[in-house]
Amino acid sequence: MMKGISATARVRIARVAIYGIGFAPAAWTFYLGVIDQLGADPMKTLEQTLGLWALRFLIVTLAITPVRDLFGLNLLRYRRTVGLLCFYYALMHLLTYVVLDQGLDFAAIWADILKRPYITVGMLSFVILVPLALTSSNMMIRYLGGPAWNRLHRWVYLAAAAAAVHYLLVVKSWPMEPLVYFAIVTTLLAYRLFKRLRGRRRSRLASA
Ligand code: HEM
Repeated sequence: MMKGISATARVRIARVAIYGIGFAPAAWTFYLGVIDQLGADPMKTLEQTLGLWALRFLIVTLAITPVRDLFGLNLLRYRRTVGLLCFYYALMHLLTYVVLDQGLDFAAIWADILKRPYITVGMLSFVILVPLALTSSNMMIRYLGGPAWNRLHRWVYLAAAAAAVHYLLVVKSWPMEPLVYFAIVTTLLAYRLFKRLRGRRRSRLASA
């Protein structure tokens, strides 16, 4: 069926499909909100759902390289799409907090950032995601040059660590879910570190 379609068009169609599927949880949650089916505290449910999906997309973004290395499945061309989905969810999560939770009271928000570690860490994660999203286009990759772009985008590791810690701090007690997310993020970051150290060792051996 896809015979007459060029490879570029297929990638485009797949990206649109990923956006369609990716935004479905947000659309469904907003719909449940509109029909008043989001439980006793709809604002909290919305805030938590959007935050959780932002973290999930961040994890998928980080998992794309290990999946290629370990299973030979190359999804690199979709990494930017998933990364941007993470950013859009984080933005909706932040807007829910700023508009619905805090009622645009910027003094209260600033006090929250200073007083509550989970808000400070969440903000840190979001502040890192902003330049990454803004520099995700091909034009920005060309403008910055490959090495500088790669250096900048390595900050995603800190954003992911901060998001996982944010989740742990939100829940205060120790339920399973945030611990599982924390473990997944730690494994993905440890993989990168391992790969980097191994690469360095190999290049040292090669030049010896
Ligand atoms: C922009 C700064 C951020 C602020 C102000 C913020 C604020 C919040 C708030 C108020 C909650 C709900 C706390 C509660 O249940 O009482 C929350 C939960 C959460 N946030 Fe954030 N957040 C931020 C950034 C992020 C980012 C960047 C991510 C992920 C990439 C994230 C992921 C989560 C997760 C996973 C939860 C818990 C959801 C659950 O309880 O199921 N947040 N955040």
